[in-house]
Amino acid sequence: MIPAPAPDWSPASWQDKEVLQQPEYPDSAMLDAVLAELAVRPPLVTSWEVETLRSHLAEASYGLRFLLQGGDCAERFDECRDDIIKNRLKILLQMSVVLIYGLKTPVARVGRFAGQYAKPRSAPTETRDGITLPSYRGDNINAPEFSVEARTPDPRRLLKAYHCSAMMLNFVRALADGGFADLHHPEYWNLDFAERSPLAAEYHGIIETIKEALRFAETVAQGPILGLGRVDFYTSHEALHLHYEQALTRTVPRRTGMYNLSTHFPWIGKRTAHLDGAHVEYMRGIRNPIGLKVGPGLSPSELAGLVNNLNPADEAGRLTLITRFGAGRIETDLPPLIEAVEATGKNVLWCCDPMHGNTEKTETGLKTRPFDKILAELELAFDIHAAMHSNLGGVHFELTGEDVTECVGGARGLSEADLERAYHSPVDPRLNAEQALEMALRIVRKYKGMDR
Ligand code: PEP
Ligand code: CO
Repeated sequence: MIPAPAPDWSPASWQDKEVLQQPEYPDSAMLDAVLAELAVRPPLVTSWEVETLRSHLAEASYGLRFLLQGGDCAERFDECRDDIIKNRLKILLQMSVVLIYGLKTPVARVGRFAGQYAKPRSAPTETRDGITLPSYRGDNINAPEFSVEARTPDPRRLLKAYHCSAMMLNFVRALADGGFADLHHPEYWNLDFAERSPLAAEYHGIIETIKEALRFAETVAQGPILGLGRVDFYTSHEALHLHYEQALTRTVPRRTGMYNLSTHFPWIGKRTAHLDGAHVEYMRGIRNPIGLKVGPGLSPSELAGLVNNLNPADEAGRLTLITRFGAGRIETDLPPLIEAVEATGKNVLWCCDPMHGNTEKTETGLKTRPFDKILAELELAFDIHAAMHSNLGGVHFELTGEDVTECVGGARGLSEADLERAYHSPVDPRLNAEQALEMALRIVRKYKGMDR
């Protein structure tokens, strides 16, 4: 049963609430013109896709599917590039095949991309050498260079974000639908540098086993097995810029309610997850599945309030809680939240983001994340959910298909000194392709070793 839309909600009702983390545009007429243009542009995703993803997330909440989410902390316009998109897809495909094989369950693949442009900031301004300018808030708002021109929020950047998202989605859809994602040809996903990884042999062993099984099944079936030539890919992003999200919120013929058609799976960030705030108001009314970042500082009663508000009709797959505590805090912080959510009686999908709580600074001031701590948080998340008869149904990683050196550790043992070699992230450190694949293999190892 599809719940009726709340009578007091509209795509603009958030404007009557306290709205945090929005840019201040000096040229409001230009903002209006941009929003009017966006409001008539074609949607980036369809309601059918959104509904399918929701049903997949529902399955993941029951342990019948696993959610693999990955992407950048902040996308940059100049990274909307052939090689970067293709390499990220390759690593997500490699990871998903490992997970399908090892967990013996289908995987929902979600890229936190094609829209992950706006970033929440802890301070609205930044001061350098006595000069104060607006903080950099992401490529859809301003530019990172420290000048008045770069930092002044420019509404035309929203159009550029829309166009980059459309270009990226176009390419991702074509690759996911055509020969590139064909399970008969996993060699298409090989990444040169990862071929030299200490774990390459383990990965290729899995691939060979799958190929053997396919050959056997197709021989018995006397023909190709349908559906193995393509995959589904979905997108998510933090829905921070509410004017942009509103402009892409639409009704759809023959469906109840309104959909945010800028992404399949919008998230609420931790700085804007206030029950009375604008972001929660906007999100409660849309039909999409939604993600909520859950970290230290969110009390059990606040979380219960958010769960009741965001999933009042108890729809499976509607709400995903993306937990990020750090290996040192998860054991104290997660259990009371699981209990509080259980007490609401509402369905949620629990997803572990082991990246954000494990960020550290090196002696030279670089942000990094130790592979061992990321893995430790993930393993603890599996154990805690299992011990509480709850289900960890997914993961979210910040990762790239490139050969970067941003997180320390992993099979190749990247050290702090190695970080200088290829540190490219302007924001949070990401797993490189090798470390990301290793993470998928370690999830499988953990899962198999668990008493289930
Ligand atoms: C993120 O989700 O990538 C992120 C950096 O989140 P936050 O700023 O909320 O920690
Ligand atoms: Co981040």
